Amino acid sequence: MLLAAGSAPRRLRLLVLGGTAWLGGEIVSAALARGHEVTCLARGSSGAVPAGARFVRADRGTAGAYDPVVAGGQRWDAVVDLGRDASHVRDAVSVLEPAGASSVFVSSVSVYADTATPGADESAALVDGDESDYGGSKVAAERAVVGAFGRERSLIVRAGLIGGPGDHTGRTGWWPLRFARAAAATEPDPVLVLDVPGLDVQPIDVRDLASWVVASVERGLSGTIDAVGDRQSLADHLTAARRVAGHTGEVVPVDEAWLEAHGVNPWAGPWSLPLWVPVATHAGFGARSGGAGRAAGLVPRPVDETLRDALAWERSRPGPAGPHGAGLEPDDERDLLAAARRRR
Ligand SMILES: NC(=O)c1ccc[n+]([C@@H]2O[C@H](COP(=O)([O-])OP(=O)(O)OC[C@H]3O[C@@H](n4cnc5c(N)ncnc54)[C@H](OP(=O)(O)O)[C@@H]3O)[C@@H](O)[C@H]2O)c1
Repeated sequence: MLLAAGSAPRRLRLLVLGGTAWLGGEIVSAALARGHEVTCLARGSSGAVPAGARFVRADRGTAGAYDPVVAGGQRWDAVVDLGRDASHVRDAVSVLEPAGASSVFVSSVSVYADTATPGADESAALVDGDESDYGGSKVAAERAVVGAFGRERSLIVRAGLIGGPGDHTGRTGWWPLRFARAAAATEPDPVLVLDVPGLDVQPIDVRDLASWVVASVERGLSGTIDAVGDRQSLADHLTAARRVAGHTGEVVPVDEAWLEAHGVNPWAGPWSLPLWVPVATHAGFGARSGGAGRAAGLVPRPVDETLRDALAWERSRPGPAGPHGAGLEPDDERDLLAAARRRR
């Protein structure tokens, strides 16, 4: 993300509901780097807040959770909410709206009902507000924020796949790490890769997203904006992952029918090939317009940089090599490679 050069405007008082996990921590760090004063409210179960932020321990599921951040007439230039639970967000806005000049809610592209159509923008239809579902809960939360703060004082950030250093889901770390492992192997180490024509991805680097959120607060941006990276084909994305890993070895492509027949999971998690989603139903999932974000100053860095830094982060992690949360175990991949070869 290339922010316009120049000094930050006046020092803002920001209240972050979250800040102990990945994106929230990046937002807090970006805000502190711009000279703002940041208070984070969370349980602390996900980790610590970045040094320099004030931490208020509270469970949003309990009565009076927000009392410490409104006591004594405290006021906030912006409340940045990373919540997933609509009831938490409803409770928060009812207490915090009078104390907050504006609200930023971090939502998700999972709010959209149609994942099949590429090029869709923020005007697309939403899922219904079934709060037991992630997307539905985000829809209900967005409505609560806009209902309380009004359109002029609300910024709804619908994030797409977030990637880069710290990606604990492994979705942007798996491919560069897998290719790097193969590149470093002393024996031939073919890599099982996805061959899914028509499928695009558009990860947004966590650092670009975080710095843009802070810049948007400084500018008083309002509205609803998809925060997505540059769209590229999955094939080009895998080529980029090979490039940053220095991989020139053998790849063994498999298509969707083969993946389904062999029980490989899409998207993330164990026994998966990350970033694959069924193209018939999800060709639009990683192919949103992104135009409103670009017009609002969200300029993603080149994807090679995101993948390179995701790889460095994966390598820096203690414990067994390999991204947790995504991909195939080496033995499982070997079995699948043998099956793929038998088919040839
Ligand atoms: N990862 C992606 O690709 C992706 C894509 C689209 C949108 N998003 C959205 O981006 C955001 C990601 O945020 P994140 O990475 O900072 O972390 P997160 O894992 O979504 O956690 C959100 C924050 O909420 C806090 N929290 C959860 N339950 C709480 C409770 N009962 N009381 C108080 N605080 C509570 C957590 O802190 P404690 O556990 O310490 O309390 C954490 O700091 C989320 O809004 C997510 O929906 C993510």
